[in-house]
Amino acid sequence: MPDTITIIDDRTGKQVTVPITDGVFPATAVRELDPSLYIYDPAFMQTAACKSAVTYLDGEAGILRYRGYPIEQLAESSTYLEVAYLLLNGELPNAAQLQTWRDEVTSHTFIHENMRKRFVDGFHYDAHPMGMLVSAIAALGTFYNDAKEIHDKSSRDKQILRLIAKMPTLAAMSFRFSVGLPFVYPNNDLSFPANFLNMMWKVGDSAIDPRLERAMDVLFILHADHEQNCGTTALRVVGSAESDPYTCAAAAASALYGPLHGGANEAVVRMLTEIGSIENVPAFIEEVKGGKGGRLMGFCHRVYKNFDPRATIIKKTAYDVFEVTGKNPLLDIALKLEEVALADDYFISRKLYPNVDFYSGLIYQALGFPVAMFTVLFAIPRTVGWLAHWQELLLDKEQKISRPRQWYTGVGVRDYAPIAQR
Ligand code: CMC
Repeated sequence: MPDTITIIDDRTGKQVTVPITDGVFPATAVRELDPSLYIYDPAFMQTAACKSAVTYLDGEAGILRYRGYPIEQLAESSTYLEVAYLLLNGELPNAAQLQTWRDEVTSHTFIHENMRKRFVDGFHYDAHPMGMLVSAIAALGTFYNDAKEIHDKSSRDKQILRLIAKMPTLAAMSFRFSVGLPFVYPNNDLSFPANFLNMMWKVGDSAIDPRLERAMDVLFILHADHEQNCGTTALRVVGSAESDPYTCAAAAASALYGPLHGGANEAVVRMLTEIGSIENVPAFIEEVKGGKGGRLMGFCHRVYKNFDPRATIIKKTAYDVFEVTGKNPLLDIALKLEEVALADDYFISRKLYPNVDFYSGLIYQALGFPVAMFTVLFAIPRTVGWLAHWQELLLDKEQKISRPRQWYTGVGVRDYAPIAQR
Protein backbone atom coordinates (compact mmCIF):
# COMPACT_ATOMS: atom_id res chain seq x y z
CA MET A 1 0.00 0.00 0.00
CA PRO A 2 1.74 3.24 -1.09
CA ASP A 3 1.74 6.26 1.22
CA THR A 4 -1.06 8.59 0.31
CA ILE A 5 -2.66 11.74 1.63
CA THR A 6 -6.33 12.62 1.38
CA ILE A 7 -7.39 16.25 1.37
CA ILE A 8 -11.04 16.98 2.08
CA ASP A 9 -12.69 20.27 1.22
CA ASP A 10 -15.09 20.77 4.11
CA ARG A 11 -17.03 23.33 2.11
CA THR A 12 -18.06 20.84 -0.55
CA GLY A 13 -17.26 17.45 0.94
CA LYS A 14 -15.11 16.72 -2.14
CA GLN A 15 -11.94 14.77 -1.41
CA VAL A 16 -8.77 14.00 -3.34
CA THR A 17 -6.21 11.30 -2.57
CA VAL A 18 -2.68 11.59 -3.94
CA PRO A 19 0.55 9.63 -3.38
CA ILE A 20 3.31 10.79 -1.03
CA THR A 21 6.69 10.07 -2.61
CA ASP A 22 9.91 10.79 -0.70
CA GLY A 23 7.88 12.90 1.72
CA VAL A 24 6.40 15.03 -1.06
CA PHE A 25 2.88 15.15 -2.50
CA PRO A 26 1.81 17.08 -5.60
CA ALA A 27 0.06 20.42 -5.15
CA THR A 28 -2.12 19.42 -8.12
CA ALA A 29 -4.24 17.75 -5.43
CA VAL A 30 -5.35 21.20 -4.35
CA ARG A 31 -6.00 22.21 -7.95
CA GLU A 32 -8.14 19.12 -8.42
CA LEU A 33 -10.22 19.99 -5.36
CA ASP A 34 -10.78 23.57 -6.45
CA PRO A 35 -8.67 25.44 -9.06
CA SER A 36 -9.26 28.70 -7.21
CA LEU A 37 -7.79 27.34 -3.95
CA TYR A 38 -4.18 28.27 -3.10
CA ILE A 39 -1.63 27.24 -0.48
CA TYR A 40 -0.29 30.13 1.59
CA ASP A 41 3.41 29.36 2.20
CA PRO A 42 5.50 32.51 2.82
CA ALA A 43 9.23 31.88 2.34
CA PHE A 44 8.39 28.50 0.75
CA MET A 45 8.81 26.76 4.12
CA GLN A 46 6.82 23.67 3.06
CA THR A 47 7.20 23.93 -0.69
CA ALA A 48 9.31 21.68 -2.92
CA ALA A 49 9.46 23.90 -6.00
CA CYS A 50 11.31 21.43 -8.22
CA LYS A 51 12.69 17.94 -8.53
CA SER A 52 16.48 17.91 -8.29
CA ALA A 53 19.17 15.25 -8.48
CA VAL A 54 22.11 17.52 -7.68
CA THR A 55 22.45 17.79 -3.90
CA TYR A 56 20.93 15.83 -1.04
CA LEU A 57 20.46 17.55 2.28
CA ASP A 58 19.01 16.05 5.46
CA GLY A 59 18.80 18.90 7.93
CA GLU A 60 17.70 16.79 10.90
CA ALA A 61 20.62 14.38 10.53
CA GLY A 62 23.15 16.99 9.36
CA ILE A 63 23.87 15.21 6.06
CA LEU A 64 25.04 16.88 2.84
CA ARG A 65 25.88 14.98 -0.34
CA TYR A 66 26.73 16.12 -3.85
CA ARG A 67 25.36 13.63 -6.39
CA GLY A 68 25.36 11.00 -3.62
CA TYR A 69 28.92 11.60 -2.39
CA PRO A 70 29.21 12.69 1.27
CA ILE A 71 30.60 16.20 1.61
CA GLU A 72 33.16 14.92 4.14
CA GLN A 73 34.71 12.57 1.55
CA LEU A 74 34.79 15.21 -1.14
CA ALA A 75 36.37 17.77 1.20
CA GLU A 76 38.95 15.23 2.30
CA SER A 77 40.01 13.83 -1.07
CA SER A 78 38.64 15.78 -4.01
CA THR A 79 39.36 19.10 -5.69
CA TYR A 80 36.99 21.92 -6.56
CA LEU A 81 37.31 21.32 -10.30
CA GLU A 82 36.58 17.62 -9.86
CA VAL A 83 33.54 18.50 -7.74
CA ALA A 84 32.44 21.04 -10.34
CA TYR A 85 32.54 18.32 -13.00
CA LEU A 86 30.58 16.01 -10.70
CA LEU A 87 27.88 18.57 -9.97
CA LEU A 88 27.43 19.42 -13.64
CA ASN A 89 27.67 15.92 -15.11
CA GLY A 90 26.33 13.71 -12.32
CA GLU A 91 29.41 11.47 -12.20
CA LEU A 92 33.02 11.89 -11.11
CA PRO A 93 35.39 12.27 -14.07
CA ASN A 94 37.99 9.67 -14.98
CA ALA A 95 41.60 10.85 -15.36
CA ALA A 96 41.25 11.79 -19.05
CA GLN A 97 37.92 13.57 -18.51
CA LEU A 98 39.35 15.52 -15.59
CA GLN A 99 42.39 16.58 -17.62
CA THR A 100 40.18 17.76 -20.50
CA TRP A 101 37.86 19.60 -18.10
CA ARG A 102 40.80 21.30 -16.38
CA ASP A 103 42.26 22.33 -19.75
CA GLU A 104 38.91 23.69 -20.88
CA VAL A 105 38.33 25.72 -17.72
CA THR A 106 41.89 27.00 -17.84
CA SER A 107 41.51 28.18 -21.43
CA HIS A 108 38.64 30.49 -20.43
CA THR A 109 40.09 32.36 -17.44
CA PHE A 110 40.85 35.62 -19.30
CA ILE A 111 38.25 38.38 -19.60
CA HIS A 112 37.70 40.86 -22.41
CA GLU A 113 39.89 43.97 -22.06
CA ASN A 114 36.81 46.21 -22.03
CA MET A 115 35.60 44.48 -18.88
CA ARG A 116 38.90 45.23 -17.20
CA LYS A 117 39.60 48.74 -18.46
CA ARG A 118 36.28 50.40 -19.18
CA PHE A 119 33.70 48.58 -17.13
CA VAL A 120 35.55 48.38 -13.85
CA ASP A 121 36.88 51.93 -14.04
CA GLY A 122 33.32 53.24 -13.91
CA PHE A 123 32.83 52.24 -10.30
CA HIS A 124 33.22 54.60 -7.39
CA TYR A 125 36.64 54.19 -5.75
CA ASP A 126 35.18 52.59 -2.61
CA ALA A 127 32.66 50.29 -4.35
CA HIS A 128 31.90 47.08 -2.46
CA PRO A 129 33.55 44.19 -4.33
CA MET A 130 30.38 42.08 -4.13
CA GLY A 131 28.32 44.87 -5.69
CA MET A 132 30.92 45.08 -8.43
CA LEU A 133 30.90 41.32 -8.92
CA VAL A 134 27.10 41.16 -9.24
CA SER A 135 27.24 43.82 -11.96
CA ALA A 136 30.29 42.28 -13.62
CA ILE A 137 28.58 38.89 -13.96
CA ALA A 138 25.60 40.48 -15.72
CA ALA A 139 27.88 42.66 -17.87
CA LEU A 140 29.96 39.64 -18.91
CA GLY A 141 26.91 38.20 -20.65
CA THR A 142 26.82 41.15 -23.03
CA PHE A 143 30.13 39.97 -24.49
CA TYR A 144 28.64 36.65 -25.60
CA ASN A 145 25.61 36.88 -27.85
CA ASP A 146 25.52 33.09 -28.14
CA ALA A 147 24.56 33.05 -24.44
CA LYS A 148 20.96 33.59 -25.53
CA GLU A 149 20.95 30.17 -27.22
CA ILE A 150 19.99 28.40 -24.05
CA HIS A 151 18.33 25.44 -25.78
CA ASP A 152 21.55 24.56 -27.60
CA LYS A 153 23.63 22.23 -25.44
CA SER A 154 26.96 23.26 -26.96
CA SER A 155 26.20 26.93 -26.26
CA ARG A 156 25.11 26.11 -22.71
CA ASP A 157 28.31 24.15 -22.08
CA LYS A 158 30.41 27.03 -23.36
CA GLN A 159 28.73 29.60 -21.11
CA ILE A 160 29.11 27.26 -18.15
CA LEU A 161 32.85 26.96 -18.82
CA ARG A 162 33.19 30.70 -19.25
CA LEU A 163 31.38 31.53 -16.03
CA ILE A 164 33.22 28.99 -13.88
CA ALA A 165 36.59 29.98 -15.33
CA LYS A 166 36.09 33.75 -15.23
CA MET A 167 34.53 34.10 -11.77
CA PRO A 168 37.91 34.10 -9.96
CA THR A 169 39.20 36.65 -12.46
CA LEU A 170 36.17 38.93 -11.96
CA ALA A 171 36.40 38.46 -8.19
CA ALA A 172 40.09 39.36 -8.01
CA MET A 173 39.54 42.26 -10.41
CA SER A 174 36.77 43.66 -8.18
CA PHE A 175 38.95 43.35 -5.11
CA ARG A 176 42.05 44.92 -6.61
CA PHE A 177 40.07 47.83 -8.01
CA SER A 178 38.45 48.42 -4.61
CA VAL A 179 41.87 48.77 -2.98
CA GLY A 180 43.49 50.68 -5.83
CA LEU A 181 45.75 47.91 -7.08
CA PRO A 182 46.38 47.05 -10.76
CA PHE A 183 44.79 44.00 -12.38
CA VAL A 184 46.75 40.74 -12.32
CA TYR A 185 46.23 38.53 -15.37
CA PRO A 186 45.41 34.84 -14.86
CA ASN A 187 48.36 32.45 -14.76
CA ASN A 188 47.09 29.27 -16.33
CA ASP A 189 50.06 27.23 -15.14
CA LEU A 190 48.62 27.40 -11.64
CA SER A 191 45.86 25.30 -10.11
CA PHE A 192 42.37 26.83 -9.89
CA PRO A 193 42.77 28.00 -6.25
CA ALA A 194 46.41 29.04 -6.66
CA ASN A 195 45.58 31.05 -9.76
CA PHE A 196 42.89 32.89 -7.80
CA LEU A 197 45.23 33.56 -4.87
CA ASN A 198 47.84 34.82 -7.29
CA MET A 199 45.39 37.16 -9.03
CA MET A 200 44.48 38.52 -5.59
CA TRP A 201 47.97 38.98 -4.19
CA LYS A 202 50.33 38.67 -7.19
CA VAL A 203 52.49 36.28 -5.23
CA GLY A 204 53.62 33.80 -7.89
CA ASP A 205 53.44 30.02 -7.61
CA SER A 206 56.31 29.42 -5.22
CA ALA A 207 55.03 31.88 -2.65
CA ILE A 208 51.71 30.09 -2.12
CA ASP A 209 51.90 27.66 0.76
CA PRO A 210 50.32 24.36 -0.44
CA ARG A 211 48.35 24.13 2.82
CA LEU A 212 46.70 27.48 2.08
CA GLU A 213 46.07 26.49 -1.55
CA ARG A 214 44.42 23.30 -0.30
CA ALA A 215 42.36 25.20 2.30
CA MET A 216 41.10 27.52 -0.43
CA ASP A 217 40.12 24.50 -2.53
CA VAL A 218 38.34 22.85 0.41
CA LEU A 219 36.38 26.06 1.02
CA PHE A 220 35.46 26.11 -2.66
CA ILE A 221 34.25 22.47 -2.43
CA LEU A 222 32.16 23.16 0.67
CA HIS A 223 30.44 26.15 -0.90
CA ALA A 224 29.86 24.63 -4.35
CA ASP A 225 26.19 23.78 -3.89
CA HIS A 226 23.46 23.69 -1.29
CA GLU A 227 20.26 22.69 -3.11
CA GLN A 228 17.41 25.23 -3.21
CA ASN A 229 18.96 28.02 -1.12
CA CYS A 230 17.86 31.62 -1.65
CA GLY A 231 20.40 32.37 -4.42
CA THR A 232 19.68 29.16 -6.33
CA THR A 233 15.97 29.79 -6.02
CA ALA A 234 16.51 33.30 -7.42
CA LEU A 235 18.45 31.74 -10.28
CA ARG A 236 15.70 29.21 -10.97
CA VAL A 237 13.02 31.92 -10.97
CA VAL A 238 14.96 34.11 -13.41
CA GLY A 239 16.06 31.07 -15.42
CA SER A 240 12.44 29.95 -15.78
CA ALA A 241 11.88 33.09 -17.89
CA GLU A 242 14.63 31.70 -20.19
CA SER A 243 17.05 34.54 -19.42
CA ASP A 244 20.70 33.91 -20.32
CA PRO A 245 22.91 32.22 -17.70
CA TYR A 246 24.91 35.38 -16.91
CA THR A 247 21.73 37.25 -16.00
CA CYS A 248 20.56 34.23 -13.99
CA ALA A 249 23.88 33.99 -12.14
CA ALA A 250 23.81 37.75 -11.45
CA ALA A 251 20.36 37.30 -9.87
CA ALA A 252 21.67 34.46 -7.73
CA ALA A 253 24.71 36.51 -6.71
CA SER A 254 22.41 39.40 -5.76
CA ALA A 255 20.56 37.13 -3.35
CA LEU A 256 23.84 35.78 -2.01
CA TYR A 257 24.95 39.35 -1.24
CA GLY A 258 22.30 39.64 1.51
CA PRO A 259 23.41 39.36 5.16
CA LEU A 260 20.96 36.53 5.86
CA HIS A 261 22.51 34.48 3.04
CA GLY A 262 26.13 34.68 1.81
CA GLY A 263 26.72 37.99 3.53
CA ALA A 264 26.56 36.26 6.92
CA ASN A 265 30.28 35.40 7.01
CA GLU A 266 31.07 39.10 6.73
CA ALA A 267 28.52 39.81 9.47
CA VAL A 268 30.10 37.17 11.73
CA VAL A 269 33.51 38.83 11.69
CA ARG A 270 31.95 42.23 12.32
CA MET A 271 29.97 40.73 15.21
CA LEU A 272 33.04 39.04 16.74
CA THR A 273 35.02 42.27 16.39
CA GLU A 274 32.26 44.21 18.14
CA ILE A 275 32.07 41.68 20.99
CA GLY A 276 35.76 42.34 21.44
CA SER A 277 36.69 39.79 24.12
CA ILE A 278 35.52 36.48 25.56
CA GLU A 279 34.41 38.22 28.78
CA ASN A 280 31.72 40.03 26.78
CA VAL A 281 30.29 36.84 25.26
CA PRO A 282 27.67 35.97 27.96
CA ALA A 283 26.27 39.50 27.92
CA PHE A 284 26.11 39.44 24.11
CA ILE A 285 24.23 36.12 24.16
CA GLU A 286 21.74 37.60 26.63
CA GLU A 287 21.22 40.57 24.31
CA VAL A 288 20.56 38.23 21.37
CA LYS A 289 18.05 36.25 23.42
CA GLY A 290 16.35 39.45 24.53
CA GLY A 291 16.11 40.56 20.92
CA LYS A 292 18.42 43.56 21.48
CA GLY A 293 21.72 42.32 20.03
CA GLY A 294 20.32 41.25 16.68
CA ARG A 295 20.83 37.63 15.66
CA LEU A 296 23.79 35.45 16.42
CA MET A 297 25.27 35.61 12.95
CA GLY A 298 26.63 32.34 11.58
CA PHE A 299 24.10 30.43 13.65
CA CYS A 300 21.01 28.55 12.58
CA HIS A 301 19.88 27.46 9.19
CA ARG A 302 16.49 27.09 7.59
CA VAL A 303 17.15 23.43 6.86
CA TYR A 304 19.76 22.21 9.37
CA LYS A 305 18.31 21.41 12.77
CA ASN A 306 21.60 19.81 13.70
CA PHE A 307 25.27 20.68 13.06
CA ASP A 308 25.82 21.99 9.55
CA PRO A 309 28.36 19.38 8.31
CA ARG A 310 30.21 22.12 6.45
CA ALA A 311 30.75 24.01 9.72
CA THR A 312 32.46 20.97 11.24
CA ILE A 313 34.85 20.67 8.27
CA ILE A 314 35.48 24.41 8.18
CA LYS A 315 36.37 24.47 11.86
CA LYS A 316 39.03 21.83 11.21
CA THR A 317 40.27 23.70 8.12
CA ALA A 318 40.57 26.84 10.25
CA TYR A 319 43.11 25.11 12.46
CA ASP A 320 45.06 23.92 9.37
CA VAL A 321 45.20 27.51 8.12
CA PHE A 322 46.13 28.99 11.50
CA GLU A 323 49.13 26.61 11.58
CA VAL A 324 50.51 28.61 8.66
CA THR A 325 49.16 32.08 9.33
CA GLY A 326 49.04 32.15 13.12
CA LYS A 327 45.77 32.08 15.04
CA ASN A 328 43.09 34.61 14.21
CA PRO A 329 42.57 36.46 17.52
CA LEU A 330 38.80 36.34 16.95
CA LEU A 331 38.89 32.53 17.16
CA ASP A 332 38.72 32.48 20.95
CA ILE A 333 35.64 34.70 20.93
CA ALA A 334 34.01 32.44 18.32
CA LEU A 335 34.78 29.31 20.34
CA LYS A 336 33.38 30.89 23.48
CA LEU A 337 30.25 32.03 21.65
CA GLU A 338 29.71 28.54 20.29
CA GLU A 339 30.26 27.01 23.75
CA VAL A 340 27.87 29.38 25.51
CA ALA A 341 25.20 29.19 22.82
CA LEU A 342 25.24 25.41 22.58
CA ALA A 343 24.73 25.15 26.34
CA ASP A 344 21.88 27.65 26.40
CA ASP A 345 18.27 26.51 26.36
CA TYR A 346 17.26 29.29 23.92
CA PHE A 347 19.57 27.84 21.25
CA ILE A 348 19.05 24.19 22.24
CA SER A 349 15.26 24.36 22.15
CA ARG A 350 15.27 26.08 18.76
CA LYS A 351 17.93 23.72 17.39
CA LEU A 352 20.27 26.58 16.50
CA TYR A 353 23.75 25.35 15.57
CA PRO A 354 26.73 27.00 13.87
CA ASN A 355 26.32 27.14 10.10
CA VAL A 356 28.87 27.30 7.27
CA ASP A 357 29.50 31.00 7.84
CA PHE A 358 30.45 30.83 11.49
CA TYR A 359 34.11 29.89 10.97
CA SER A 360 34.69 30.59 7.27
CA GLY A 361 35.20 34.33 7.84
CA LEU A 362 37.95 33.64 10.36
CA ILE A 363 39.82 31.61 7.76
CA TYR A 364 39.34 34.22 5.08
CA GLN A 365 40.64 36.88 7.43
CA ALA A 366 43.67 34.77 8.34
CA LEU A 367 44.32 34.34 4.61
CA GLY A 368 44.44 38.12 4.34
CA PHE A 369 41.09 38.74 2.66
CA PRO A 370 39.32 41.92 3.73
CA VAL A 371 35.86 41.41 5.18
CA ALA A 372 34.18 42.92 2.11
CA MET A 373 35.58 40.05 0.00
CA PHE A 374 33.98 37.24 2.00
CA THR A 375 30.75 36.94 0.05
CA VAL A 376 32.73 37.17 -3.18
CA LEU A 377 34.68 34.12 -2.00
CA PHE A 378 31.37 32.31 -1.53
CA ALA A 379 30.14 33.31 -4.99
CA ILE A 380 33.16 31.91 -6.87
CA PRO A 381 32.46 28.23 -6.13
CA ARG A 382 28.69 28.61 -5.77
CA THR A 383 28.66 29.49 -9.47
CA VAL A 384 28.95 25.83 -10.36
CA GLY A 385 25.97 24.97 -8.14
CA TRP A 386 23.91 27.71 -9.79
CA LEU A 387 24.84 26.38 -13.22
CA ALA A 388 24.10 22.76 -12.35
CA HIS A 389 20.62 23.89 -11.29
CA TRP A 390 20.25 26.08 -14.36
CA GLN A 391 20.99 23.08 -16.61
CA GLU A 392 18.63 20.89 -14.65
CA LEU A 393 15.88 23.50 -14.85
CA LEU A 394 16.15 23.81 -18.63
CA LEU A 395 15.97 20.04 -19.12
CA ASP A 396 13.03 19.59 -16.72
CA LYS A 397 9.86 19.14 -18.77
CA GLU A 398 7.67 19.79 -15.72
CA GLN A 399 9.03 23.30 -15.22
CA LYS A 400 7.41 26.44 -16.58
CA ILE A 401 7.90 30.12 -15.95
CA SER A 402 7.80 30.67 -12.15
CA ARG A 403 4.68 32.56 -11.31
CA PRO A 404 3.32 32.10 -7.78
CA ARG A 405 -0.05 33.50 -6.80
CA GLN A 406 -0.80 35.79 -3.88
CA TRP A 407 -3.27 36.19 -1.03
CA TYR A 408 -4.68 39.63 -1.77
CA THR A 409 -5.19 41.60 1.46
CA GLY A 410 -5.70 45.09 0.02
CA VAL A 411 -8.91 47.09 -0.15
CA GLY A 412 -11.80 46.11 -2.41
CA VAL A 413 -12.92 48.07 -5.42
CA ARG A 414 -13.51 51.81 -4.95
CA ASP A 415 -14.08 54.78 -7.26
CA TYR A 416 -11.38 57.26 -8.16
CA ALA A 417 -12.09 60.69 -6.73
CA PRO A 418 -10.72 63.87 -8.36
CA ILE A 419 -8.06 65.54 -6.20
CA ALA A 420 -10.31 68.45 -5.20
CA GLN A 421 -12.73 66.02 -3.56
CA ARG A 422 -10.12 64.18 -1.38
N1 CMC B 1 20.30 34.02 16.43
C1 CMC B 1 19.32 34.04 17.37
N2 CMC B 1 18.11 33.52 17.19
C2 CMC B 1 17.85 32.95 16.02
C3 CMC B 1 18.81 32.88 14.99
C4 CMC B 1 20.07 33.42 15.24
N3 CMC B 1 21.03 33.39 14.31
N4 CMC B 1 18.27 32.26 13.93
C5 CMC B 1 17.01 31.95 14.28
N5 CMC B 1 16.77 32.37 15.53
C6 CMC B 1 15.53 32.17 16.27
C7 CMC B 1 14.45 33.11 15.75
O1 CMC B 1 14.42 34.32 16.47
C8 CMC B 1 13.21 32.29 15.98
O2 CMC B 1 12.88 32.35 17.35
P1 CMC B 1 11.33 32.41 17.81
O3 CMC B 1 10.77 31.08 17.45
O4 CMC B 1 11.38 32.66 19.26
O5 CMC B 1 10.70 33.52 17.04
C9 CMC B 1 13.65 30.86 15.70
O6 CMC B 1 15.06 30.85 15.99
C10 CMC B 1 13.41 30.42 14.27
O7 CMC B 1 14.00 31.40 13.41
P2 CMC B 1 13.49 31.74 11.95
O8 CMC B 1 13.71 33.18 11.70
O9 CMC B 1 12.09 31.20 11.77
O10 CMC B 1 14.46 30.87 11.07
P3 CMC B 1 14.64 30.97 9.51
O11 CMC B 1 14.76 29.59 9.02
O12 CMC B 1 13.61 31.82 8.88
O13 CMC B 1 16.03 31.76 9.36
C11 CMC B 1 18.32 32.18 8.99
C12 CMC B 1 17.19 31.15 8.95
C13 CMC B 1 19.59 31.52 8.53
C14 CMC B 1 17.97 33.33 8.02
C15 CMC B 1 18.45 32.74 10.42
O14 CMC B 1 18.75 31.71 11.30
C16 CMC B 1 19.51 33.83 10.56
O15 CMC B 1 19.20 34.99 10.37
N6 CMC B 1 20.79 33.42 10.92
C17 CMC B 1 21.87 34.38 11.03
C18 CMC B 1 22.38 34.72 9.64
C19 CMC B 1 23.20 33.58 9.08
O16 CMC B 1 24.08 33.04 9.72
N7 CMC B 1 22.93 33.26 7.80
C20 CMC B 1 23.68 32.24 7.07
C21 CMC B 1 22.86 31.06 6.76
S1 CMC B 1 23.83 29.68 6.13
C22 CMC B 1 24.52 30.19 4.67
C23 CMC B 1 23.61 30.70 3.63
O17 CMC B 1 22.42 30.40 3.58
O18 CMC B 1 24.11 31.46 2.81
